[in-house]
Amino acid sequence: DSGRLWGGRFEGGPSEAMFALSKSTQFDWRLALHDIRGSRAHAKALLQAGLLTAEQATAMDDGLAELARRVQEGEFLPAESDEDVHGALERGLKEIVGPVLGGRIRAGRSRNDQIATLIRSYLREEIRNVASDLVGVIDALASQAERHPGAVMPGRTHLQSAQPILLGHHLLAHAWPLVRDIERLRDLDKRLAVSPYGSAALAGTSLGLDPELVAAELGFESSVPNSIDGTAARDLIAEAAFVLAQIGVDLSRLSEDVIIWCTAEFGFATLDDAWSTGSSIMPQKKNPDVAELARGKAGRLIGNLAGLLATLKGLPLAYNRDLQEDKEPIFDGIDQLRVLVPAVAGMVGTLTFHEERMAEVAPRGFSLATDVADYLVRSNVPFSVAHEVAGETVRYCEARGITLQELTVDDVTSISDHLDEGVLEVLTVEGSVASRDGRGGTAPVRVAEQIQELRAARGDL
Ligand code: ARG
Repeated sequence: DSGRLWGGRFEGGPSEAMFALSKSTQFDWRLALHDIRGSRAHAKALLQAGLLTAEQATAMDDGLAELARRVQEGEFLPAESDEDVHGALERGLKEIVGPVLGGRIRAGRSRNDQIATLIRSYLREEIRNVASDLVGVIDALASQAERHPGAVMPGRTHLQSAQPILLGHHLLAHAWPLVRDIERLRDLDKRLAVSPYGSAALAGTSLGLDPELVAAELGFESSVPNSIDGTAARDLIAEAAFVLAQIGVDLSRLSEDVIIWCTAEFGFATLDDAWSTGSSIMPQKKNPDVAELARGKAGRLIGNLAGLLATLKGLPLAYNRDLQEDKEPIFDGIDQLRVLVPAVAGMVGTLTFHEERMAEVAPRGFSLATDVADYLVRSNVPFSVAHEVAGETVRYCEARGITLQELTVDDVTSISDHLDEGVLEVLTVEGSVASRDGRGGTAPVRVAEQIQELRAARGDL
């Protein structure tokens, strides 16, 4: 048996180069167990339609169970002559139940509806794994936030000092996008839970097979309402590629912060030995390779999405062989994240933060200037005037080479009639942070509340 599922109308076999091009077992073999599960469900539909006798159906199911065992134990592998996972497995089934019974399994289905179903089953399983890995990163961020309840740091916009914030607030800001990514994966699963089995080549099956039966057997919620769409659509694969890319981007942004924090110039954090690497020539080095690989892989994940969309954009309905090119990018995306996400969780969870250093630089760059303006607004000064006065205060300090915190009563009263000694009390990092106590703000009470909210959201995932 050649492991090729066609041939009757051809005089000879494919040329070597044609076969090498066409062959897909090197990547689609990972779908083998999903394929066998599909065949077992399909055999039930064949039985129900009267196309297999009860004995045949039992023998078929036993044969498929044995084939699954052989595949799982690595006893059965694709041969050089197998074109794809489907052909290889039909060959394997025939080896177990004989060519006559084995030859019955393919009735009423096509590799087109098979592959469309398998990729959905596969993705439903794998995105759950990615989601649970992501929970590990969310937990690491939340634990770090809990470990440093009062730690302040400079908050930045345009990478310039803006306003002081809590470290915990910043860390949690990296957790929420990951919560949304998990929600995206769960939402995608609703759409993936529709089985294309029964669409056959494109027009549906004429043999009285019940697609809903197969769908239910395979754990899908329903079957596709349109067989052409069932075999030709790959928007769900592209959507999965998007979510994987977005996860990559979110981890990359977190990583970029870690990379900056761990420079000598910032000195906010130190990487744990187990989650960093050294240099072959510079003995002092401790490099943030996990974070850099996260940044690098984000580019790769974006490329997978872009490549897949480009493959899809010009395709007429229904199935075209181009669609085979959906597998490697999406498999690669899953594989990359399955190694990356746990490493990012480990890196984040073991970071040592230097609270003193962060507190020392938190007020730099006149980051308390907004607090001067807000103080004036509380004394009923219009914000536009308050903004001007606070700006003049900054200019006054800059000209004298002092910080806002070093201002005296004489200084402030000489800057503006609006200012009095009360302003000196708000000119502390702690006061500034504590004053931002609206919902979602950086005040310690709000951040503590936010950790609870995150833990609750994570529990629902
Ligand atoms: N390997 C193909 C794919 O991944 C499925 C097989 C359909 N092949 C065919 N010649 N109709 O899309």
